Amino acid sequence: MPAFPENFLWGTATAAYQVEGAWNEDGRTPSIWDTFSHTPGLVANGDTGDVACDHYHRLEEDLDTLAALGVGAYRFSISWPRVQPGGRGPANGPGVAFYSRLVDGLLARDISPVATLYHWDLPQELEDAGGWPHRDTALRFADYARLMGDALGDRVHTWITLNEPWCSAYLGYASGVHAPARTEPAAALAAVHHLNLGHGLAVQALRSTAAKDARMSVTLNLHHVRGVSEADGDAVRRADAVANRAFLGPMLEGAYPRDLIEDTASVTDWSFVRDGDEAAACQPLDVLGVNYYNPTLVRQWDGASLRETADGHQDGAASPWIGCENVEFVRQPGPYTEMGWNIDETGLTELLLRLHRDYPAMPTMITENGAAFPDPVDADGRVHDEDRVDYLRRHLTAVAAAMEAGADVRGYFVWSLMDNFEWAHGYAKRFGIVRVDRDTMERTWKDSAHWYRDVVATGKLA
Ligand code: FCB
Repeated sequence: MPAFPENFLWGTATAAYQVEGAWNEDGRTPSIWDTFSHTPGLVANGDTGDVACDHYHRLEEDLDTLAALGVGAYRFSISWPRVQPGGRGPANGPGVAFYSRLVDGLLARDISPVATLYHWDLPQELEDAGGWPHRDTALRFADYARLMGDALGDRVHTWITLNEPWCSAYLGYASGVHAPARTEPAAALAAVHHLNLGHGLAVQALRSTAAKDARMSVTLNLHHVRGVSEADGDAVRRADAVANRAFLGPMLEGAYPRDLIEDTASVTDWSFVRDGDEAAACQPLDVLGVNYYNPTLVRQWDGASLRETADGHQDGAASPWIGCENVEFVRQPGPYTEMGWNIDETGLTELLLRLHRDYPAMPTMITENGAAFPDPVDADGRVHDEDRVDYLRRHLTAVAAAMEAGADVRGYFVWSLMDNFEWAHGYAKRFGIVRVDRDTMERTWKDSAHWYRDVVATGKLA
């Protein structure tokens, strides 16, 4: 039975647009996700985040749930257009006050605030001005980071600049299945760069405003890429370059990998990277956030057969995998979650050990891991989600195995505290350990919440 260290940070995670609602209250302006979800046909069932989990109005109740779970940390994200409407200018008092209450409410309950600055909700005005492919967005992001450092920097335990810039760049600007629904591969690579640059500038801004002991981090959805056979080494290398090293390179090593530049040469010459940018992106970090759901399996495509695209990221008008035109994404053996993602926790152990090998001085933290399942409500009114308990247990065992083998893992955050707006899937996919009734907004603990509370309390997997 694996046991975790005393100071291991146990938490749950959410993101602003997925839970808050109150989309047009107290001065908040639209983000690209408001525009996306209000565009007919882009989100399943026409769902929007207008109300979401109504967390904005149920803050105290949700804070009490966190306290009852006994978690030591809570990862939330700040809605940029709520605190800086339009993405420029001064802070918006009422918006900042909401996060200030959230942070104080956490601290009063002895829960460490882990704040993500950007979980995909770019102010629409900044997208209208060009969005992440446009260099100025990185500068605006740094200004926003400074405002938040000034407002909350004395109380936030860990700052996460970006959540999964992979998704922002490639799903937002290449395949178009996420906001702002553009399908422009060259723009997607420019977005990659400006996200990397924005991250570095934001860390600098936070270091100059936040408490000296505040931890700096970024969350990446690193893909653990495997090849079907030995012959697929080049496919693995290409997918790893565009998915992982496109971010790890500049952020942790101060340079883009040469092979990435070569693989994507027909799409862009990368002239948007200016002298000094890579150094600016590479700021000292205290911990690297890792989101893990499943591994990725690739094969060299023969160019003739129907190309498999089972990458788990929804089929869009174009592929998010720029520079991987000869790579197939192969369907993996089950079992699967409701997202169609295969359950394979061995990828998490391997990924953590790879990071430990490549960046031995950089501790990691699992900032998201979890699963969507059907979650029927039983006759007794409860959700007996043994499948989710099994998923979480497997993945925590995999984390323990990596730690046993030397990886320095500091914490683990379940995605998610509660059922919420699952982006283009709307509310149909339930990831919460707490159920949210869509009609009444009532919160009910699933069996997994009870199980997780015991894990947190004991530091052991039952
Ligand atoms: C991640 C996102 C998170 C959630 C999970 C299921 O990619 O960061 O918001 O949607 O997937």
